[in-house]
Amino acid sequence: MATLASPAPPIAPRFTHWNQRLDPAALAHIPGDGGPPVIGNTFRMLADPHAFAAGMIARYGKVYRNRAFGGWSVMLCGAEANELVLLDRDRIFSSEQGWGPMLERLFPRGLMLLDFDKHRADRRALSIAFKPAPMRHYMDALNRGIAARVSAWGVGPMRFYPAIKELSLDLAAESFLGLPWGPESAKINRAFVDTVAASVTPIRRALPFTAMKRGVDGRAFLAGYFTREIAKRRSGEGVGQDMFSQFATAAGDSGALLPVGEVVDHMIFLMMAAHDTITSSASSLVYYLARHPEWQDTLRAEAMAVTRGHDLAYEDLAKLELTEMAFKEALRLIPPVPSMPRRALRDFEFGGYRIPAGAGLGINIHWTHHAEEYWPEPMRFDPMRFTREAEKARHKYAWVPFGGGAHMCLGLHFAYMQVKVLMAQLLSRYRIELADGAEVAWQPWPIPKPRGGLRIELSPL
Ligand code: HEM
Repeated sequence: MATLASPAPPIAPRFTHWNQRLDPAALAHIPGDGGPPVIGNTFRMLADPHAFAAGMIARYGKVYRNRAFGGWSVMLCGAEANELVLLDRDRIFSSEQGWGPMLERLFPRGLMLLDFDKHRADRRALSIAFKPAPMRHYMDALNRGIAARVSAWGVGPMRFYPAIKELSLDLAAESFLGLPWGPESAKINRAFVDTVAASVTPIRRALPFTAMKRGVDGRAFLAGYFTREIAKRRSGEGVGQDMFSQFATAAGDSGALLPVGEVVDHMIFLMMAAHDTITSSASSLVYYLARHPEWQDTLRAEAMAVTRGHDLAYEDLAKLELTEMAFKEALRLIPPVPSMPRRALRDFEFGGYRIPAGAGLGINIHWTHHAEEYWPEPMRFDPMRFTREAEKARHKYAWVPFGGGAHMCLGLHFAYMQVKVLMAQLLSRYRIELADGAEVAWQPWPIPKPRGGLRIELSPL
């Protein structure tokens, strides 16, 4: 069990930004290794992050230190570690300084880049966009957009991953921004795709012709567009039930509207948080259903019984219980966010080790989701792991694809909604098979995606 090493002083002022380095000697008592000189374990990790983590845990245990991407960090693995870090009862762990190195340049001041009181206040203001009335509005847009596109796919072969990526972008234009599909939303989508691609590019300087340069330009385009639009929406022009209109008119704790720059940053961040995660998880669910036709038939029967040939109604979302269980199982097997970083702001103890303030930390969601101590036969696709009884019997933090605690995914109900609408529309029209009839390899990092784009064959029922 985790305990605090000493009575909690106010948050340590020593580490206020992620680029302040901790002397690696402060971690020397924690088992682990730094790999070859200079590059450390970076390439071994990138080649196969899951095999790498499993090897480190087998050698050193569930708390180990590692050197990659130019610095040392401590990995804390398993459900107890997830609970300690995500719940963060003692306000030890900074999300801002954990995600900062990857996201600060392109997604500053997004919710995951805020901590504690400021984070809580902004999160409360943004939560209005996920209340039932706007959610019903998004649901209508999803039903319309998904029905049109899924019927246009038609029978025959297709690559599912790029198709669902494009569909999700188009849907976001309407639900997130309140824009009809057209040249303006196409430009926004392009700028957005460039911004996201830049957040994970290895070259971190915006040199000409690099992905980072395209990302920085994309971000500047989005910021300009949102800044102009906020003024319009606040004056009532184009204001609707979309997320952006909700954010533009949201009030903070003081009752005043959020500053324009903050609305811009929240909006850009939210689009990023929503996009590849939904694309990845919808693809993994389709992949597992193609591999398990018996589950595909079960979900089809459920969807048809609930919708009776109509669009899925908002009130009926909860009736798609088996669909939800299958989605949860897909999220277990291929979690879109396989690990989550934090930085310790104070000393703490875990697993028998004292971990000092300033240490970069990671929790490994993918490993926990495959650990036999929580998941017998972990590689088997079995949605029955998510019956209510089975969920109650398991450690609450053994399944955390949406994180937990203060930073738990704000859009998780939106994600369930989009995937349920997609399944209802897709399964009531087509049978899905893998085109090559073979195993599909997944690129594991940074957000899993199927190599080759997931080639499937849609056939009539
Ligand atoms: C299957 C789809 C999704 C998955 C697996 C997912 C996963 C996650 C995870 C793991 C976090 C927390 C990261 C951390 O604590 O370090 C997170 C945060 C967040 N997600 Fe999602 N997400 C998904 C979809 C969405 C969607 C659709 C939206 C918006 C509509 C969204 C918006 C956010 C936001 C705003 C945060 C930051 C919350 C905060 O820091 O308070 N996500 N998501």
